Amino acid sequence: MKKVKIGIVGLGRLGRKHAENIAFRVPNAELTAVCSIVKSEVDEVQRAWDIKYGYYSFDEMLGNKELDAIFISSSSGEHCRQIEAALDAGFHVFSEKPLGITVEECLSAARAVERHGDKVFMLGFMRRYDSSYAYAKRKIEEGLIGKPYLIRCYGLDPVNAIQGAIRFAETSGGIFLDMAIHDFDLARWYLESEAKSVYAIGGCYAYKEFEKYGDADNAAALVQFENGAMGLFYAGRTCAHGYHIETEVVGTKGSLRIGTVPYKNLVTVFNETGAVNECVGGFLERFDRAYLNELREFVNCIVEGRKPDVTVYDGVKSTELAYAAKESFEGNKLVFL
Ligand code: NAI
Repeated sequence: MKKVKIGIVGLGRLGRKHAENIAFRVPNAELTAVCSIVKSEVDEVQRAWDIKYGYYSFDEMLGNKELDAIFISSSSGEHCRQIEAALDAGFHVFSEKPLGITVEECLSAARAVERHGDKVFMLGFMRRYDSSYAYAKRKIEEGLIGKPYLIRCYGLDPVNAIQGAIRFAETSGGIFLDMAIHDFDLARWYLESEAKSVYAIGGCYAYKEFEKYGDADNAAALVQFENGAMGLFYAGRTCAHGYHIETEVVGTKGSLRIGTVPYKNLVTVFNETGAVNECVGGFLERFDRAYLNELREFVNCIVEGRKPDVTVYDGVKSTELAYAAKESFEGNKLVFL
């Protein structure tokens, strides 16, 4: 079996996990090259896993024609430029979310995807590849809850990761583009409609450090969709009990909830503090399987010559909504898309 040879850019919190998945968990993929502007990350991964090529410059990696695909897990502000450059250099491309941090650069990336229709492009909305989220989608399509008219989403990062979030704040694009973007994509997916208007509020309730980036540590958005459905979104970085990703979809005949209590596992500890269920600690733990599933789908699409369900337009539309939420938050006004 011919292996899909992949070069990854970005070896940070998430990139290293993706690199490990490519190297060891997908039989028809090979981690052929690694790239980061942090030299020690490249050297360490290359040496530890015996990776053939290591690069400190992304453009240099694009000169390696042994590669079939480029996997982008760099900082959010780099995605669009790197997507375009990789497609133009003749590679299949996977990019982490968000597609970009301005609508203009997202549209430019979409044009690059259109220019290279023979290439596979996939965006990292991995929640769609989580078994519970995918199951809920099937149940909604089967009509189990009737017509969905409301979605409520919680996307909460654990407070023990706050220092990382503060370091990342300058390049993250802000809480709506960085965090709520997953929920905006899910809402579009479940409601099968695009956003019409958004009103967003929030603040720096516990960590003033986000203020200098015009960002919030907790924020909420109220969205009306074109089909009349309602969306309530809450993104936060100070969750005391762990990584809490919860989604509720309410329809005319019922509702469903995903992840209402973010249980770590099925163990309950009974002791002097009561009956205690631990919660998942972060995205790597909660979505471990989803990151692998999305990678398998990307590689299989290349091998089988087909396109994934998540498209560049999902990236454009989610970014448009996230950007409108950011504008609403910054200007304290209702924003129409
Ligand atoms: P990070 O800051 O830990 O790592 C970023 C990496 O990109 C570093 O290795 C850095 O050296 C590299 N890099 C940045 N600019 C570069 C350039 N011009 N050329 C080469 N390398 C460059 O960031 P983290 O947390 O790993 O996030 C990476 C991306 O993944 C972000 O876009 C983030 O939004 C996304 N992400 C997605 C998650 C999900 O659940 N799907 C969860 C966490 C992050």
